Amino acid sequence: MRVGILGAGQLGQMLARAGHALGMEFRFLAPPGESCVEGLGELLLGDLRDPALLDRFVQGLEAVTYEWENVPAAAIEHLRRRVPVRPGPESLRIGQDRIQEKQFFRSCGLSVQAFAPVDAPRDFAMALQAVPLPGMLKTRRLGYDGKGQARIKDARDLSAAFEMLGGVPCILEAFVPFQAEISLLAVRALDAGGTEEIRFWTPCRNEHREGILDRTVSPAPELDAVVIHEAQHGVRQLLRRLGHEGVLCVEFFLKDGHLVANEMAPRVHNSGHATIEGAFTSQFENHMRAVARMPLGSTEARGVTAMRNLVGSVGCPQAAMPKGTFLHLYGKQPRARRKLGHVTSVAQREIDAVAACDAAFAALQAQPASARG
Ligand SMILES: Nc1ncnc2c1ncn2[C@@H]1O[C@H](COP(=O)(O)OP(=O)(O)O)[C@@H](O)[C@H]1O
Ligand SMILES: [Mg+2]
Repeated sequence: MRVGILGAGQLGQMLARAGHALGMEFRFLAPPGESCVEGLGELLLGDLRDPALLDRFVQGLEAVTYEWENVPAAAIEHLRRRVPVRPGPESLRIGQDRIQEKQFFRSCGLSVQAFAPVDAPRDFAMALQAVPLPGMLKTRRLGYDGKGQARIKDARDLSAAFEMLGGVPCILEAFVPFQAEISLLAVRALDAGGTEEIRFWTPCRNEHREGILDRTVSPAPELDAVVIHEAQHGVRQLLRRLGHEGVLCVEFFLKDGHLVANEMAPRVHNSGHATIEGAFTSQFENHMRAVARMPLGSTEARGVTAMRNLVGSVGCPQAAMPKGTFLHLYGKQPRARRKLGHVTSVAQREIDAVAACDAAFAALQAQPASARG
């Protein structure tokens, strides 16, 4: 089966590796820039709004998927006339706008923090009435890794923050003093007869540093079975109503024992990387299975996993790795705040998984001998 992937970053790399093991072949289409998919398939670079380029890309493909959610909606519409695009346009549309996302969460029975649209200065007063401060002002679209966000301590900060974010449509949301950040990864697939299958991986607890994911542990130790069941119930509704086919990740804040839904990604997600070694079937394999309408594999965990991102630079990529840890380098040029790779560990106990992952991380981040005084 020949599958097209929009985007050519590390998620595309890991999707293609999983797909190759299933006998698939790939073609990638991405905006000009660095790619991580060399040797994994044909790569086309260009403007995703160019219909001729889209036609060239889709030639001979049996399905198309995407590894990044800011794909232009018009590109999906164009491709959809030629081949199935999975997940479909509704998942992308909702996931591209923070206001629609939160309204949709609410309609699926998930709790959300107080929020209000701030599309222009005339909305300031109304938003401040609806949202208790402190809050966060975020661009409605195109934000990632903490970009396009500003803290709002009191009402006077709003105008400057709106200007700073470029005067584009925003959302004001209440700051959630969370105990933990949680993500839930799910996959939905249909078979040829239209019968659905939905599976969940164990929930993840995520720690961020400067807005970028730093560490994930799964299963999240703070969650009890009732809370997980409720969140899964909401996410199941969401998947069905979107008609979603593929992996989807919902990020939550855990506060006072309850989960508050913050945002979703209609694709494979950084917090699910440890499923490569830590689950019977990884998020990447199950995503490709759903895209190809193949039966899903088991999402059951093989143990407790820990994952840490390697961001900005990797001091010592040749370092010895402790037993039970796994290194993934994406082949990208080092740059501040850029995700260059990750390291995973799998163990029977959380304490061992975290210790091994942290030891591997420290060894990888050590300064090379030549750089030491
Ligand atoms: N309303 C909020 N309350 C508390 N922390 C927040 C809030 N919104 C965002 N954050 C913090 O900023 C991080 C990034 O925000 P998020 O909404 O996930 O956007 P993105 O991941 O697209 O940059 C979150 O993981 C969380 O640590
Ligand atoms: Mg996020």
